[in-house]
Amino acid sequence: MKIKAFGVEEWMNEYEEEAVYNLGETCAKSITVKELLDYQGRGKEALEEIYQMQMTYGAIKGTDKLRREVAGLYRTGEISNVVIAHGGIGANHLVFSALIDPGDEVISVMPTYQQHYSIPEALGAEVKILPLTMENGFLPDLEELEKMASNRTKLIAINNPNNPSGALMDKSFLEKIAAIAKKYDAYILSDEVYRGLNHQGEAFGASIFDLYDKGISTGSMSKVFSLAGLRIGWIMASTEVVKEINIHRDYNTISCGRIDDFLAGIALEQKDKILKRNRRMILENAGILEEWVKSEPRVSYIKPMAGTTAFIKYDYQIKSEDLALRLLRDTGTFVVPGKALDQEGYLRIGYANDTEAVKEGLKKISEYFRILEEEGK
Ligand SMILES: Cc1ncc(COP(=O)(O)O)c(C=O)c1O
Repeated sequence: MKIKAFGVEEWMNEYEEEAVYNLGETCAKSITVKELLDYQGRGKEALEEIYQMQMTYGAIKGTDKLRREVAGLYRTGEISNVVIAHGGIGANHLVFSALIDPGDEVISVMPTYQQHYSIPEALGAEVKILPLTMENGFLPDLEELEKMASNRTKLIAINNPNNPSGALMDKSFLEKIAAIAKKYDAYILSDEVYRGLNHQGEAFGASIFDLYDKGISTGSMSKVFSLAGLRIGWIMASTEVVKEINIHRDYNTISCGRIDDFLAGIALEQKDKILKRNRRMILENAGILEEWVKSEPRVSYIKPMAGTTAFIKYDYQIKSEDLALRLLRDTGTFVVPGKALDQEGYLRIGYANDTEAVKEGLKKISEYFRILEEEGK
């Protein structure tokens, strides 16, 4: 199967290690195993359990405990609706490989995580792109979606909260998308790996799984729970879809690792503490970012409502990749160029890392903008 290179992942693989001020990171600053076990307060027992753990494949589908904790993140749903996968990336991949055949029509928003348009395309689907624009607050234009959808539409892929913009679709917005999908009996895949860090109100927003019988949600330990190193993600779907997905899962997963499953179970048990820590950090850093945007006349954005990233539009005559590379090489500040997300003229800023790195990185970007102004760009 031929597939287009994954822009963001290629960029991260190539350059992230050079970062001094990492504004490319999308995970709320990752925690250590010690921090996790300290939240739980029974570190010695947990470590003893790991010491004694026999390294079999463990529970093939994931332990009941982990699947129960995952199901608990949704209003509806039970263990039988949960598929444990290799990160959110494995979860999304499984959904597409189980449901999409050559000739199917798939609608995907853009910008989004590239999996959602490049995998169905590689599987031989006809992919239609629904652009998310700054003018629309990076929310889908529902009239346009209505025009695009047809009886041939097999799946509509959305990303809520959105990477890179931090835009958030609320319950009533999702219900409108579900009504369009229902008309054509289409699935909705909602990549919800950033769900759980709404900046205001309830930390967890509405999930498509709870709102639509053909709604499929994917989630992960990586971003809002600060545990990317566990490589645990999941799918929430109807039992019929779970059955289809498990046929594919048997070919590429077996199980997701006993230690990872065990620690993810502890983390979800302790989720309130982790989310409290992350929300505090994110709100502080989002405030710093907002002040910075206000102070830069040639920069604009839509204030993120959730998640860990913002999409910054700049008004300088320089390609995003050149700008990002110069920022990295000359100042040590690492950002993701819009080009890597198929959107020229933007930079993606991840603001959920160290507060000092965010402050210093933004200061360096400002200094660099002054140089661009001197160059007449
Ligand atoms: C929207 C989105 N989905 C999925 C992933 C995959 O993350 P993971 O496999 O660590 O859960 C990412 C990572 O950047 C993402 O931004």
